[in-house]
Amino acid sequence: MSDRTKPQRPVGIDRGLTAYGDLGFSKYLRRAFLASAGFDRADLDRPVVGIADTSSEYTTCHRHMPEIVQAVKRGVLEAGGLPLVFPTTSLGEILLSPTSMPYRNLLAMETEEMIRAQPMDAVVLLGGCDKTVPAQLMAAASANVPAIAVVTGPMLTGSWRGERLGACTDCRRYWALYRAGELDDVAISEIEESLCPTGGTCMVMGTASTMACIAEALGLMLPGGATAPSGSGDRLRHAVAAGRRAMELIARPILPLDILTRAAFHNALSVLAAVGGSTNAIIHLTAIARRAGVLLTLDDVHDAAQRVPLLVDCKPAGAGYLEDMHRAGGVPTLLKTLAPLLDLSAIGVSGRPLGELLQQVSPAQAWQSTIRTLEAPLGPTGALVTLRGSLAPDGAVIKRAAATPSLLRHTGSAVVFDSPEDAAARIDEPALKITPAHVLVLRNAGPVGAGMPEAGSLPIPRYLAQAGVRDMLRVSDARMSGTAYGTVVLHCAPEAAVGGPLALVRDGDRIELDVAARRIDLLVEPSELARRRAGFIPPPLPERGWRRLYAQHVLQADLGADLDFLAPLPPAA
Ligand code: FES
Repeated sequence: MSDRTKPQRPVGIDRGLTAYGDLGFSKYLRRAFLASAGFDRADLDRPVVGIADTSSEYTTCHRHMPEIVQAVKRGVLEAGGLPLVFPTTSLGEILLSPTSMPYRNLLAMETEEMIRAQPMDAVVLLGGCDKTVPAQLMAAASANVPAIAVVTGPMLTGSWRGERLGACTDCRRYWALYRAGELDDVAISEIEESLCPTGGTCMVMGTASTMACIAEALGLMLPGGATAPSGSGDRLRHAVAAGRRAMELIARPILPLDILTRAAFHNALSVLAAVGGSTNAIIHLTAIARRAGVLLTLDDVHDAAQRVPLLVDCKPAGAGYLEDMHRAGGVPTLLKTLAPLLDLSAIGVSGRPLGELLQQVSPAQAWQSTIRTLEAPLGPTGALVTLRGSLAPDGAVIKRAAATPSLLRHTGSAVVFDSPEDAAARIDEPALKITPAHVLVLRNAGPVGAGMPEAGSLPIPRYLAQAGVRDMLRVSDARMSGTAYGTVVLHCAPEAAVGGPLALVRDGDRIELDVAARRIDLLVEPSELARRRAGFIPPPLPERGWRRLYAQHVLQADLGADLDFLAPLPPAA
């Protein structure tokens, strides 16, 4: 642990001097160039707080980030520091092709390197959209300088024909109705303009909201920061406070690796279960833990889900939205409710043990119904279940809370799609004669195969949707949006592209899911599988650039899909 009692002398702008072979010259030149930006000696003698800015016109979820930058800067200046904003890659989930996932590691690597390479005594990491927060937390763990996460906050809800709605559980629900012929072109156009009424992140408990809650639960965000709506005064005051607190962390450092302990991950997994959070968070938490040298397994995820019931009434597991959770007290109130199940010794950026912090938090109030109690939860334990079996020897995941109960034990014949593109091209073909009892299999959509897109919740074939079928068993090595729902087995590892069992499935093979037994099995004789394996030919890797480097080095989903040369080996369990 850092010596928290002894103030450190900040190094400020002289940190990590540029290598000219003459330290005096390096300092002098640095000051000369900063003078051109209007900084004088009085400015440059101050501690430096870097502010990682992920705003971009491609990332509408970060539309309000410029004013958050100004708010953080104000906090730093008020506390006597020098704020320096630096841009990093911005990852807007909806505008990245083929998927944002490979770029999480690129942003993590870039952010880590920029924290190291540029002079800063602390850093405030501004994120929001799905992959930005996990990337920044991974970077924080690896760079290990005082760091505080701030998010843009969730959008406010919209409405359509009197119904309250928001991105993106309602996006998927209405699109499914449109595919089924229950909505016309006029209606879907109106909905399109109502789903995302403000800047900010998706206002359901999708991946962005889940990761914001997890950042706060881990202790890398000041209390109350996960749920304040984008553009609100709460959001801006939180940003100012983060700037001030960054300065205090310079004087009395608490480093990310002090915070990212096993206790912190225990608490984060409890929050993940209580909010009915995104399956994507499992991969992200695993990756962050590996960066921090904490061994986090799929069994840890499963155990937490068995221990903690669903407490938060937000879509897709519930009916409400993040603004409701914020009004109900946000993550601090949720943590207060969960206190008997948490490790209260954990210390985050606030510098005080969680148990002490929670003494000042009111319990969930009777006037609200968004944050439920352990005595009267919204849903049972076991919202997330991790599976193993002959189809996923290294693990797979299903969100039981989003599945159809009658499909939780199901055996059916496989209909195999060789890629997300293949699925998009053929899934509606009547010639496939798909019935509701079939199992839709998508492969080559794992980390190596396709960068692991959110393609796992394959659409129900149009002719079945039009006949009223709303769910089928689907199995893949892909991910699924945190806003999606259905009986969907995800993250099968090892993936098909590296020769995992999914690569060996043929149309008509029997697949058995037994969630109670935590099994997903391919019911094909081992001798036949061995014969098929002998003929396995891996798909070609991307030809060049980041996508090739990523495919050559990405780890499997059960290991967090980090790059093999970035994640330190965790200590033995
Ligand atoms: Fe950015 Fe949902 S698309 S948070």
